[in-house]
Amino acid sequence: MKHRTLYSSDDIRRQVNQLAKAVDATEVESYLVLTVLKGAAIFSSDLVRAMRTATELEYVTASSYLDDFTPGESLTMSGMSALDLEGRHVLIVEDIIDTGRTLNHIHKSVAKEKPRSITTVTLITKTNRRSTGFQPDHSGFAITDEFIYGYGLDWNQQHRDLPYIAIANPPD
Ligand code: IMP
Ligand code: MG
Repeated sequence: MKHRTLYSSDDIRRQVNQLAKAVDATEVESYLVLTVLKGAAIFSSDLVRAMRTATELEYVTASSYLDDFTPGESLTMSGMSALDLEGRHVLIVEDIIDTGRTLNHIHKSVAKEKPRSITTVTLITKTNRRSTGFQPDHSGFAITDEFIYGYGLDWNQQHRDLPYIAIANPPD
């Protein structure tokens, strides 16, 4: 299968470095980094290594997609109950915001745990009509309504391992 590159490894590296700087600028002593699996695993691994702020790494799983193109009706989340977020500076790391439902939901769950602060960072934001209006604190690339994959993002669980981001053909 031939992939159409949207963002090269170099594009991504530059963007990740900028986001790391933006997140560091707050100058907290340390972040509890809460990565949204699976998609953000690769982004977050690069982000924490580009950041200067000390981190602790935690993970939650969220899935809102029934298949590769259709937003699911329900959002399932796991891993939150095992975390102690009280008094912590929590940095939520997401790969991509589409409707914003996933981050909205996770943000609410984190807020209930009485953290000292919540910061949200996403590598990509889709600007589209379905948006819930969730505004991340830090966002990298903006795209319209294309389906993309690679660098952690999947196409039906495939191609997360591509070191660049590819763009799929529209579904119809
Ligand atoms: P939201 O809840 O609608 O904001 O959906 C966000 C989640 O859907 C992301 O965490 C991704 O896992 C997934 N997603 C949205 N758009 C894409 C895409 O273009 N490629 C791969 N996954 C996507
Ligand atoms: Mg995701």
